[in-house]
Amino acid sequence: MGNVSRVCSAFLQNGKLNLIYMLISLKEMLKNAYTNKYAVGAFNCLSLENVIGAIKAAEELRSPIIIQLAEVQFPCAPIELMAPLYLNAAKAATVPVAVHLDHGESMETCIHAMRLGFGSVMYDGASLPFAENVRITREVVRIAKAFGVDVEAELGKVGNADNNENKKDPDIYTGVQESLLFIQRTGIDALAIAIGNKHGHYIATPQLNIARLTEIHEACEMPLVLHGGTGTSEEDFKACIHNGICKINVATAIQLGVTNHLRQYLQSNANPDYIEMKEEVVKATKEVVAYHIKLFESEGRF
Ligand code: 13P
Repeated sequence: MGNVSRVCSAFLQNGKLNLIYMLISLKEMLKNAYTNKYAVGAFNCLSLENVIGAIKAAEELRSPIIIQLAEVQFPCAPIELMAPLYLNAAKAATVPVAVHLDHGESMETCIHAMRLGFGSVMYDGASLPFAENVRITREVVRIAKAFGVDVEAELGKVGNADNNENKKDPDIYTGVQESLLFIQRTGIDALAIAIGNKHGHYIATPQLNIARLTEIHEACEMPLVLHGGTGTSEEDFKACIHNGICKINVATAIQLGVTNHLRQYLQSNANPDYIEMKEEVVKATKEVVAYHIKLFESEGRF
């Protein structure tokens, strides 16, 4: 990866011009991944310890990284508190760190994240009828351009891994022609697709539809995003990153890793110490993130 760019977003608040500098844009980061056939891990960080652990892993492995927060996570990690943490950590890092809103459920949430300085947002209109998803996504893109912010959007049905919903429904997969139309009509920078991937803890390892991914990749020629990274087989991850997937979201694996570390710590310490427990969370996050960075082949890219 070449020089780190500085994207500036500006907005007026109470008559004052506010400037926010980002270290790198998602678009720039994913362009490099697309050209060189690797994926950047996007890790949902719910705490200071998650942010420190994730960035430490990226710095040690000289990898770009995305730290992200989903709207559904705001109750336990308020975006107004997390934004300065994410942004200051990203600016201080010695590798490119993109700061991203994951699964923004409304245009208002996306604009809120832009105002707080997020460098990219995902607007998730996947459950809406196609035309409505296009209409709102296009509006989010229009506003985002004014902020210098990049946009990810989603097509298809990424379900929840802890049930068998949509199991026999062929409509869950993102269509090839609809992807092409969606990209043309909205002007997005990255497209999240559904190829059998689901969020959460899978009951059984999923079988991704790599043939559909390849078709979408060949037709669209733009960075694609895989949600629901936790529990995917190494073989499927490799097939994804060699067929256009440039961003892979991982959330549940961090929570499972942290819980396991803390359980072990508590079992082996009669007098648990809070500071040591915080360190365990950093260590566990770092381990999970490092594992995925190596798997996604983003190690040594910076
Ligand atoms: P997992 O929780 O399955 O890793 O999915 C994360 C995700 O896709 C966040 O958008």
